[in-house]
Amino acid sequence: MPDYKRTLVTSALPYANGPLHVGHIAGAYLPADIYVRYCRLKKRDVVFICGSDENGVPIMLRARFEGVNPQEIVDRYHAMIEESFARLGMSFDYYGRTSSAVHRETSRSFFRKLNDKKQFITKSEDQLYDPEAGFFLADRFIFGECPNCNYEKAYGDQCEKCGSSLSPADLINPRSSITNAKPVLKKTTHWYLPLEKIQPDLENWINQQSHWRPNVLGQVKSWLDAGLHDRAVTRDLPWGVSVPEEIAEAAGVEAAGKVLYVWFDAPIGYISATKEWAQQQGDPQLWKKYWQDKDSRLIHFIGKDNIVFHCLIFPAMLMKHGDYVLPENVPANEFLNLEGQKLSTSRNYAVWLHEYLEKFEPDSLRYALCSNMPETKDADFSWSEFQARHNNELADILGNFVNRTFTFIEKYFDGTLPPKGQLDALDGELVARISAAGENIGRAIDSFQFKEASRHFMDLARFANKYFNDKAPWKSRKENISVCATALHLCVEMTYALGVLMQPVLPFTAGKIRKILALDERQMDDWEKAAEFPLAAGHRFGQVEIIFAKIEDEKIRTEIERLQQTTNAETSKAEREQDSQITIDEFAQIQLKVAEIVAAEPLKETKKLLKLQVQLGDEKRQVIAGIAGFYAPADLIGKQVVVVSNLKPAKLRGDISEGMILAATDADGQLSIISPDKKIKPGSAVK
Ligand code: 2FM
Ligand code: ZN
Repeated sequence: MPDYKRTLVTSALPYANGPLHVGHIAGAYLPADIYVRYCRLKKRDVVFICGSDENGVPIMLRARFEGVNPQEIVDRYHAMIEESFARLGMSFDYYGRTSSAVHRETSRSFFRKLNDKKQFITKSEDQLYDPEAGFFLADRFIFGECPNCNYEKAYGDQCEKCGSSLSPADLINPRSSITNAKPVLKKTTHWYLPLEKIQPDLENWINQQSHWRPNVLGQVKSWLDAGLHDRAVTRDLPWGVSVPEEIAEAAGVEAAGKVLYVWFDAPIGYISATKEWAQQQGDPQLWKKYWQDKDSRLIHFIGKDNIVFHCLIFPAMLMKHGDYVLPENVPANEFLNLEGQKLSTSRNYAVWLHEYLEKFEPDSLRYALCSNMPETKDADFSWSEFQARHNNELADILGNFVNRTFTFIEKYFDGTLPPKGQLDALDGELVARISAAGENIGRAIDSFQFKEASRHFMDLARFANKYFNDKAPWKSRKENISVCATALHLCVEMTYALGVLMQPVLPFTAGKIRKILALDERQMDDWEKAAEFPLAAGHRFGQVEIIFAKIEDEKIRTEIERLQQTTNAETSKAEREQDSQITIDEFAQIQLKVAEIVAAEPLKETKKLLKLQVQLGDEKRQVIAGIAGFYAPADLIGKQVVVVSNLKPAKLRGDISEGMILAATDADGQLSIISPDKKIKPGSAVK
């Protein structure tokens, strides 16, 4: 890693439109927090920034879904997300929100600068507009019939039934989902980032990033190979950061309702949150050092769905603005699945962070996710693996080692640090392992290989546990107390090293260990000194406590069952649909034929029934139909209809019915007879 004076780390700003789940945590948050905590222990100058993404269509959709206004949504979820993050131990230096005044001004002035530097182009085109609501409709706010599967509630960008991607113009009978009005086409003007023109500069810059993860570079290169397209950076929406009015006016465009595209303002949120952090530090200009000094290193932690924005679009914005550093690395993670299936917010198929934290310890999740992080390919979270990581590694290895060390000391050394004597070969190996651990784990974290870091860490604890066994202090206590004291002393040195080195991944557990060691925070906060044990013989320890209680099977079963219920509910819906399906042979048993009505009269003493005479090829039949409320007999004469011709004759009110006429009814009780589109010979088969 080249020498940088300082590092600014960001985690993707989560949309404040719903709670977080484990997939989010494994993607953009936990790796960043581990990295930052490590940098702090290495005494590097690092600032960690995040915040809520509170603009754009995702927020409006949620507000619409809940029937409340967008402000209520962002206020609620911002608070919820911030609290869950804190309980998980996310150690942001600042957690902002993109509804803040500083953000609004920062985004607008960023836009202004690009506009002044003539970095935008404008384009005018027709877009769908809701005449009743008085604003342009984002694709998601238009629904209509899917041209592919005829699903009636397809969105303007996608049909959720058949999965086809659509544009609003494809929809049959499009409607505004805000007012149900028929949208009209209206001209609108937008500002575009001319990425086609910027592409060569981006390519040139990307070519210098050979140290990025291969999966990130792979995705970036495929975007570049396909050729970038100019991107609109404004939208017509009633929610968001408004485009500077003077710019709209100068372009002859109505400023009201013209906002920055959420993917334009959201990454600027990293800058505005850094400004707010600087203000909080009492040094309002401090943010500039992190964003504008070439000795600063900018690292974006994100999930893979955000790669194009952080590796191409935001860098293009920063590059063309000119005052900012570009990201030095974007260690994007792949996706996390859950019990072999895709996580799904809408299907409630997820492990929600706030619910997890009600039932389990934050460090257990941090460790399980870190040990199985989707760094190079998608990973799977399973409850049984979570339990195994906790019980077999955290509790049985790490917890057991710490517990047996301090229980023994409490019992046989009066709860004080035993003196260290002569070291034998095994003692020497323990000391050597402690000395090497900081560098091994650190190297892995520095190269964003978090799984590898946790493996090194647990190997060290595993060695420690075995050392305790091999040393058998319960025997040496009786045979050679100095050997016993030395072993226990070294076990405490090991606990101290583990306590320092675990902090990035297991911050809460590290706190417990510090309490057992009876140290203050500053005595355990230096990565380089993990092997420099600070205590002298006779130091009195704190109360021994179990640092990891086992997780019972019952608790895990409950979680698995909850997920299964979600899946079962879906399966039984699919099965029900399948049960009601018929085969083509079954369908072929129903004979449908075109018939022409030749006579019609009300069936005596009934209000609903008509007695019809129909011609069916050479044959004439009588059919009783419940359509009197919808058709006058005279209007039916000569009309062609479809009848089920092989239905067993039945008597209705004393009159025989030799078939059934097909008709459609809607939810409001309206009825319409099914007729051939054009005249056809009566008796023709309908298939
Ligand atoms: O995908 C998302 O959840 C976005 N809210 C991420 C934004 S990251 C950044 F650009 F702010
Ligand atoms: Zn469809």
